[in-house]
Amino acid sequence: MAKVLINEQLIDEQDAKVSYEDRGYVFGDGVYEYIRVYDNKLFTVKEHFERFLRSATEIGLDLEYSVDALIELCRELVACNDIKNGGVYIQATRGVAPRDHAFPNSDVKPVIMAFTKSYDRPYQDLENGINAITTEDIRWLRCDIKSLNLLGNVLAKEAAVKYNAKEAIQHRGDTVTEGASTNVLVVKDGKIYTHPVNNYILNGITRRVIKWVAEDEGIPFVEEAITTDFLKEADEVIVSSTSVEVMPVIKVDGESVNDGKVGPITKQLQEGFDRYIRSHSI
Ligand code: PDD
Repeated sequence: MAKVLINEQLIDEQDAKVSYEDRGYVFGDGVYEYIRVYDNKLFTVKEHFERFLRSATEIGLDLEYSVDALIELCRELVACNDIKNGGVYIQATRGVAPRDHAFPNSDVKPVIMAFTKSYDRPYQDLENGINAITTEDIRWLRCDIKSLNLLGNVLAKEAAVKYNAKEAIQHRGDTVTEGASTNVLVVKDGKIYTHPVNNYILNGITRRVIKWVAEDEGIPFVEEAITTDFLKEADEVIVSSTSVEVMPVIKVDGESVNDGKVGPITKQLQEGFDRYIRSHSI
């Protein structure tokens, strides 16, 4: 039976329970990460846990864990559940306390929970591409924090599903921000454009790997906000995340991108990404 990690204890999944007073449950008061496992190894795990600790700090949550300690916990869970290819979800909440918006006393300790999932890479979509829609970005103004509050993202994703698409590309007014659970990158005249890292987007680790690949291959990587019109005129559109990797988008709002074919720069980035899987998994 699969084990779930709760506060450093590996517990049988059927016995893994949370309190009704957990602030993650009541307020969404916590942060999370999702880390990929390739060939029994953790991909870019240091970057993920650095972001996890940053998210925690930004919401005033003191986790008292080092990146190395978190990697060790994660490794133990992955080994114990024998995950070859899949992912680890980990979250930390502000702990269990009677419902009150303000932070609880300092003796209330955070609750850390992690579980694993086993699955293959999305080979078919990576080869053929996916459809996306666009939707207004209605989220809060600290999208750089990987917070448990995902209602805006959930509603955006559900809108995509309703239109038979796999991702919703969000925009604030005319400005494209990011997907419901991905970063958005657009290729135009041989250059990659993507929203700069600030409070409007999550500083995606996959986005970062794409930037490394672009630098290796001499493809200009322009961190500038793009408009929805620019998106519609793009040569290639990509959404990126830990789960979907470098995912081509071949239709936006029903209109084909690059005649519905996966473009050459996307393919180049996918190949480069595969090289990073090999060099950045531990
Ligand atoms: N989502 N933007 C948002 C809003 C996200 O939720 C994610 C990741 C990303 C991409 O970040 P990264 O490349 O570090 O995975 C961007 C994860 C996979 C999730 O919610 O499961």
